[in-house]
Amino acid sequence: MEILIRDTPEEVALAAADIVSAYVRRALPGAGCVLGLATGSTPVATYQELIRRHREEGLSFAGLTAFCLDEYIGLPREHQESYFRFIRDNFTAHIDIDDAVFSPDGMDPQPWKAAQRYDEAIREAGGIDVQILGIGSNGHIGFNEPGSPLRGRTRVETLHPQTIRDNARFFENDVEDVPTHAITQGLGTILDADHLVLLATGENKAYAVHSLVEGPITTSIPASMLQLADKATVIVDESAASMLREREYYRHREELRPSWLGPDMRPIED
Ligand code: F6R
Repeated sequence: MEILIRDTPEEVALAAADIVSAYVRRALPGAGCVLGLATGSTPVATYQELIRRHREEGLSFAGLTAFCLDEYIGLPREHQESYFRFIRDNFTAHIDIDDAVFSPDGMDPQPWKAAQRYDEAIREAGGIDVQILGIGSNGHIGFNEPGSPLRGRTRVETLHPQTIRDNARFFENDVEDVPTHAITQGLGTILDADHLVLLATGENKAYAVHSLVEGPITTSIPASMLQLADKATVIVDESAASMLREREYYRHREELRPSWLGPDMRPIED
């Protein structure tokens, strides 16, 4: 697992945008590239930077496909707080990705079937190349709350009371309005992605980040399963890094990173 520590949330966004851009640029015509997109406030600055690169530097997403990480059950796609709408408003409506953006159907009367279909759709698309992730203050990723199966596929999850409290800020601070259930990519589904890129900023994420990077792999901290990933990059600001015991080593290791290794952790070919 690679740990990148940056001074500010803005620099976290730049580092994440560098990784995604490398995948987007490498996408071969016809072969495409599949992006996995998280919602929440943390990745918004990354999406803004990618939009800027699209507008000012010609970064093209044409021919690419994107899959959202999760979706609330009971919110129609056009609802202001649906994750489909969030991703569209904050990212995909501003780039040239056409209509190739998918999310679980939170209005399906049989959500468990919608979850299975979604998992199959990701597989049929060839799997996710680069998956952006945030982390909840309780260590969740996607909506995989403590106790989630480590190899689970896309499924229905009950939101933890802590997550409901955390997310009430998007629902005028009314916990009663936050949906209680969601369809989320499972931890096994997430782990199938080629490269996991987890972003965390702010002191309230420090314990979760420490646990995910330096604690045991445990279903109590679902994000700790990143330790099993072949390629995972955790990008944090100083506040979110504040509880990492080995932060000096992570800095040192980044300084010594071989110059032939690109931001997507693949060798740069001539
Ligand atoms: C969003 C998601 C969640 C968030 C997490 C952190 O699709 O799956 O796991 O990434 O709750 O949210 P923020 O970034 O708002 O702190």
